Amino acid sequence: MDDKEHKLSLKREVGLMGAVSLIGGTMIGSGIFMSPQTVLASIGSPGASLVVWACCGLLVITVSFCYAELGTVIKESGGEYIYILRTSGPVVAFMLVFSSVMFVRPAGIVGISLSFAQYVVAPFYPECSPPVLVVKFVAAAAILTLAVVNSMNVRFSMSVQVFFMVAKVLALAVIIIGGVVMLVRGHNESFKDSFENTNLGINPIGIAFYQGLWSYDGWNNLNYVTEELKRPEKNLPRALLIAISLVTGLYLMVNVSYLAVMTPKELMSSNAVAVTWGNKVLGSWGWIMSVAAALSAFGSLNGTFFSGGRVCFVAAREGHMPEILSMAHVHRLTPSPALIFTTVISLVVLIPGDFQSIVNYFSFTAWFFYGITLGGLIYLKIKKKDLPRPYSVPIILPILVLFVAIFLVLAPIIDNPQIEYLYVALFILSGALIYVPFIHFKLCPGLLRKMTVFLQLFLEVAPADKNL
Ligand code: ARG
Repeated sequence: MDDKEHKLSLKREVGLMGAVSLIGGTMIGSGIFMSPQTVLASIGSPGASLVVWACCGLLVITVSFCYAELGTVIKESGGEYIYILRTSGPVVAFMLVFSSVMFVRPAGIVGISLSFAQYVVAPFYPECSPPVLVVKFVAAAAILTLAVVNSMNVRFSMSVQVFFMVAKVLALAVIIIGGVVMLVRGHNESFKDSFENTNLGINPIGIAFYQGLWSYDGWNNLNYVTEELKRPEKNLPRALLIAISLVTGLYLMVNVSYLAVMTPKELMSSNAVAVTWGNKVLGSWGWIMSVAAALSAFGSLNGTFFSGGRVCFVAAREGHMPEILSMAHVHRLTPSPALIFTTVISLVVLIPGDFQSIVNYFSFTAWFFYGITLGGLIYLKIKKKDLPRPYSVPIILPILVLFVAIFLVLAPIIDNPQIEYLYVALFILSGALIYVPFIHFKLCPGLLRKMTVFLQLFLEVAPADKNL
């Protein structure tokens, strides 16, 4: 570590339990309450949809093994950003940060908040879909509330996280138990001829995976904070394995329960699966499920707001982000500039955004960068054999996952080219265009400095030399 990192004096305070909840708490959010019907509609049959959910889990476990090696070889915090910076160089790393700050993170926030809103308003519109405007309004209110909470107090937002984590695991447990009861009573019609009508096209498979993988996203959260993890060489691989297998198991059983309670047709036509499930199984207590799903999304939203600050922070210390985004409020010690910035962009993305397309573009961009990161791991394994490796995976694993990532990125484009994917790709590439004048040639440093000073006074923030 160089001097700069010493100045930050990050403390290793996260133990195994904290690490597991950091991963699991972000993974379980909106997806498991929103995506099952889209996965099913896309892939066509209940059997195949369960296979997709299982394969997503397997894929994520495999890719997380690769991230365990990356995180123990490159010990800095910052996730993909720092791995790409150390293996593929600053231009690609900047493209990642640019896309992440301007699109991926805001899109994640909007996707989860839309799901939150859907569940909050669902009980008020039992017979029809709620008006889009109402849903967006509630989503915006959730984003603004969390922006304020996170700007006020770090501790409070962390305890919010724990509370919501418990709520969501309980909700999933209720769904699973309800499903088991239904199965025991003989409700297994959905599982007869369960592979009939499977769509085997490239596009349906790709979209089903995008939707499934959204629910698993967040598996890489711990890699953003490796500098704060106790004994990372042991705890990083362990936490990844425990959290992801737990979530995979829960997701599979929840899907079985949805299918035990609803016919595939009912499932596909439901706006909010958990509400339909609740109405069928819990009767007049069905609204509890919509509260639980809303809480789960709210918790994941809080986590996404919180962890995102780290990437800005690490990128700013490498000179890839305006310094102001790495600063913290002088009294509250919260990263308010980064939070305000993210909130504004999220609200802009919210205006045109709908859940399904946001999830698809999110997964497209995310897997593009996971692919580049795995390329970096393969490079390290071939070219830097002598680096100390507390934990090492067989090289075939990253190669395999790299192929899957390439398939996932190309599938929806090849089979059914939609102009939106081109826009997203152009957007990712535009990062390189910004890099050359502003980062490489440091164009207009004076302007940036003036702006930083002004914003610093206005927002009462200062460079953060303390871990937030
Ligand atoms: N898996 C979460 C959900 O189902 C979404 C996570 C978004 N990504 C993130 N890195 N926070 O809602």
